[in-house]
Amino acid sequence: MNNFIYCTPTKVIFGREIEPQIGPTLKKYGATRVLIHYGGGSVKKTGLFDKVTASLDSAGLSWVELGGVEPNPKLSFIHQGIELCRKEKVDFILAVGGGSVIDSSKAIGVGLATGNDPWQYASTGTHPEDDQVFPVGVVLTLAAAGSEMSNSDVITNDLVTPWVKQGITSETVRPIVAFMNPENTFTVSKFQTGCGIVDIMMHTMERYFLGTPDCDLTERLAEGLLIAVRDAGRRAIADPNDYEARATLMWASSLSHNDLTGCGKPRYFPVHKLEHPVSALHDRVSHGAGLSVLFPAWAKFILERDIDVMKFAQLANRVWGVEMNYDHPERTAAQGIETMKAYFHEIGMPVTLAELGLKPEDYEAIINLTTKNGTATVKSYLPLGKEEIRAIYKLAE
Ligand code: NZQ
Ligand code: ZN
Repeated sequence: MNNFIYCTPTKVIFGREIEPQIGPTLKKYGATRVLIHYGGGSVKKTGLFDKVTASLDSAGLSWVELGGVEPNPKLSFIHQGIELCRKEKVDFILAVGGGSVIDSSKAIGVGLATGNDPWQYASTGTHPEDDQVFPVGVVLTLAAAGSEMSNSDVITNDLVTPWVKQGITSETVRPIVAFMNPENTFTVSKFQTGCGIVDIMMHTMERYFLGTPDCDLTERLAEGLLIAVRDAGRRAIADPNDYEARATLMWASSLSHNDLTGCGKPRYFPVHKLEHPVSALHDRVSHGAGLSVLFPAWAKFILERDIDVMKFAQLANRVWGVEMNYDHPERTAAQGIETMKAYFHEIGMPVTLAELGLKPEDYEAIINLTTKNGTATVKSYLPLGKEEIRAIYKLAE
């Protein structure tokens, strides 16, 4: 087990009828004027927006609103948010939405805390100083990205051609508080529910592989989370109003990406690094849908090279219920990948590039963006350059 620091300071307020606590809690954190940041309007349709504003009003907090965050949040809109907050003297940002709204809020916060363009950090892999923190809170409406507790902030620069999607990784972007009422996810579509299930699983699986071999506790926590998500996912797809299933997915969204399932392991996230250029160049592709296509193909590519076969077989056996073949663990491993693919298919997720609407003639531009025109590789079990990524795409056709 590698040395590690585990610190997840986000306060979680979880369960039914928690919305009246929003105003008083923000007040305790020193908020006086709040930006309510949200997406394309689902929060207004569901009535959640009114509950949030009623709570802020009754706590005596003033607020301004900025709706319109698009999935895969855009830098140009983040700039508008920074301007608005400065003009309105906002001292707290409340994200009401899913990962895109949260990441847009985090980036606005980075701009306000540092006085710099957030893209400066995303594009260079640098991060704000430890004390450059602007308070961001979350009212979560979608169990998926885990941004409500994560130290990541993923944004798309739409001011360059081609667009580039990149993350800031910094402890300064962890939200201060997250209000999580599973009922607020009942209205999430089946497709977005599926995308969320895949993304939650991926945040744990990306940590599961490429680790040191002696992380038994961390791996068993990971497997427990994956099994619970596998079962709750099926139930939430069958019945969107299943509170317990939605609650499991919501809590798993946070635990899967707050580092709990990665303690003692390195963090590479190769499949995320393959996916972000896909959704940067093809904005209609949801992050979770890109992952459900690329993860099985990446896993097959690794297995074809006989790498870490026992770990893949272990996952197949413990999570996907495949009987262990001790003479041929590679068969168990391969069957595990097929079972996972079948599960993704069952919950309505794409498993081929064609299902994402991508044609072979689209591949090269994505591969060029992923590898900075062949000058960079994605860190994985083995470095993934242009040739390797082409081979992974072939397996994803
Ligand atoms: O915009 P509205 O109208 O709210 O609709 C949204 C959006 O169209 C809808 N939705 C959300 N809650 C709903 C709802 N519809 C009905 N009822 C509700 N309760 O869902 C659609 C997708 O929302 P989005 O926020 O884009 O989805 P998600 O939470 O999956 O976030 C995806 C973004 O997060 C990034 C992804 O790359 C992507 O940009 N990620 C962020 C991470 C982080 N910061 O830690 C980690 C992840 O790996 C990921 O990269
Ligand atoms: Zn993700």
